[in-house]
Amino acid sequence: MPELIILKLGGSVITKKSEEKAEVNEENLKRLVREIAEARRENNFRLMVVHGAGPFGHVPAKKYGLDRGLRDDTQLEGFSATHQSMERLNFSVVDFLRKEGINAIAYQPSTLGILKDKGLIYFPTEVLEKLLDMNMVPVAYGDVLVDEKTGINILSGDHLVPYLARKLKADRVVIATDVHGIFNLDPKKYKDAELIKEITSENVKLIREIGTSKRTDVTGGMERKLNELLNLAKYGIESEIISALKPGILKRALLGEKGLGTLIKK
Ligand SMILES: Nc1ncnc2c1ncn2[C@@H]1O[C@H](COP(=O)(O)OP(=O)(O)O)[C@@H](O)[C@H]1O
Ligand SMILES: [Mg+2]
Repeated sequence: MPELIILKLGGSVITKKSEEKAEVNEENLKRLVREIAEARRENNFRLMVVHGAGPFGHVPAKKYGLDRGLRDDTQLEGFSATHQSMERLNFSVVDFLRKEGINAIAYQPSTLGILKDKGLIYFPTEVLEKLLDMNMVPVAYGDVLVDEKTGINILSGDHLVPYLARKLKADRVVIATDVHGIFNLDPKKYKDAELIKEITSENVKLIREIGTSKRTDVTGGMERKLNELLNLAKYGIESEIISALKPGILKRALLGEKGLGTLIKK
């Protein structure tokens, strides 16, 4: 069976910066899907894509307080609205992939999975496995889900990726974001921030500041990514955080090159 790669495309990369208006960053998305298509032509691998939300998810989720759970039924309108907004972004991602000749197929988390206090406790993968074996490319995303403890809540793409990586026994996990990897300080705030090429639970204290750059990020930004991926590494699955903004990096990562960003391992 060809190796399985789970790729996360960060919301910060595939959407435009403006937090008021939800818009796809078509220029980035176009280049990224081209890199994916080129890598797939050069190498045979199974691929699952998970993308983030940007303003498509974070803005309505915040507006309706979905990250705090279900407190009154007016939030159900927010559940519906946020999911639909994410579907709109998902449509674009699938559409761009298809235009590059990739047999992508939308995969809706909100109608499939169940959370318990923001952690996935149920997410069936039988269909997913069949699609992957047929060499289709399922495209899931961060979404709003039923939560057994809080009513409803947000499933972060950064949580779905390691969950699927374990369940589907992925060979590799690639996280494409808007910075080169994890630094000792937030590189957007500090010019002298230093990239950490490898992170394990041993050297994690090299990081002096980690968080998220955006006020409206409801899912925890880089800190959440790191915690999720360190936990994944315990199960023997390494991951790499790379820049999706620097052309060519994603393709090289998909083709198996390491050391392009920050490697997270046991
Ligand atoms: N120590 C750090 N190293 C790298 N990035 C950091 C750090 N601390 C905060 N960040 C911020 O995390 C952001 C990436 O997380 P996030 O915005 O959630 O991206 P994504 O859209 O890919 O999920 C970067 O833009 C960066 O500003
Ligand atoms: Mg994020």
